[in-house]
Amino acid sequence: MRMAAQRCPNLFVVPPLWTPVSTSINSHNIAQHTYRLAFSDSQIIGAARAPLNAAARTMGWNIMCEFHVEEKVVNYGLAHLYKSDERPILISIGRGTVMDQRSQIMKQSVKVFFDQATWTLTYVVYDEDSRDAIIIDPVWDYDQASSRLSNISAKDVAEFVKEGNLRVHYILETHAHADHVSGSQVLKELFPQALVGIGANITLVQKVFKDVFGLDASFPTDGRQFDILLSEGQVLKAGTLEIKTLFTPGHTPACASYVIGESVFTGDALFMPDYGTGRCDFPAGSAADLYDSVHEKLYKLPDHYQVFVGHDYQPNGRKMLYQSTIGHEKAQNIQLNATTTREDFVQFRTNRDRSLAAPRLLLPSVQVNIDAGHLPEAAKNGTSYLRIPLRR
Ligand SMILES: [Fe+2]
Repeated sequence: MRMAAQRCPNLFVVPPLWTPVSTSINSHNIAQHTYRLAFSDSQIIGAARAPLNAAARTMGWNIMCEFHVEEKVVNYGLAHLYKSDERPILISIGRGTVMDQRSQIMKQSVKVFFDQATWTLTYVVYDEDSRDAIIIDPVWDYDQASSRLSNISAKDVAEFVKEGNLRVHYILETHAHADHVSGSQVLKELFPQALVGIGANITLVQKVFKDVFGLDASFPTDGRQFDILLSEGQVLKAGTLEIKTLFTPGHTPACASYVIGESVFTGDALFMPDYGTGRCDFPAGSAADLYDSVHEKLYKLPDHYQVFVGHDYQPNGRKMLYQSTIGHEKAQNIQLNATTTREDFVQFRTNRDRSLAAPRLLLPSVQVNIDAGHLPEAAKNGTSYLRIPLRR
């Protein structure tokens, strides 16, 4: 079968030859075609599945390819057949696994750390071959009663990075957390080449909380405390890793999710299906925005994409879980699934949030986190002090 070649923006020129090898029908009555894809400098065998019904043919096909490179199954790639008359005429390979003309594969691994005190999940995402890495949402342990910070959580992360000889390019925050102090600066001290990044809308959060905390006029609200401000759709390169930022506001206006390969790190936008979503009652939070973020962005990702959540509260005493899929969330998220209406979600989320107490570490966390994880400048005695508003 001869295919028209098309330039594929992030990968390579699609091969001109797409040769059928075999066809079989699986137990779900789905036709599975195996093709041999001939590239100019290599050969890849693709096992493509496509429903062969009239609707699918007129709509164009979505097919999955399992790629084997040099006899080795390496990963999955998403391919789209854009048009189908008698035969498909155009193919492109979706981004995510096969990286370039040399058929390098982006094989990111994920190491998870769980801070039981704040139910927070920290991730190290890394490439086992290149040792390129990023860290998402690290924790700086803070004991409120003694007002003492400790580096236990950050040390665990740092040890993993050092033992794996990983090169940390970025330390990314999904948002300015209200329940734990960010460990980004602790880790940056250890890995000074790493850039601390957050969604560019952190400036909105800084403006709101500058007033809440009565911070000095000199406190910048343009995000300059962070090394890098990420914009919607921006793709960061961290060596062989690519991180795409999706703005997913609602829990806060500055929330971002990070898509890496076929995984998405959702922060507090989306939790495990049996827990639901993040609260939306912080200043400038919005249940309607969260609905749009989840429904219109996260749920538009392919169903097989893995979801890594920002917290797990272990509902009903179940063991800690941190990983789901878009398909699983769409089918089973108890607060916002694929069929939940905007109106229902906003009503539910608003009512639920009214019943929630403020997070235990809200005031210390936000104050430090809007400053990119820096402590307030030390007083003459060398000690840093937080500002705690007294409400009457
Ligand atoms: Fe949060």
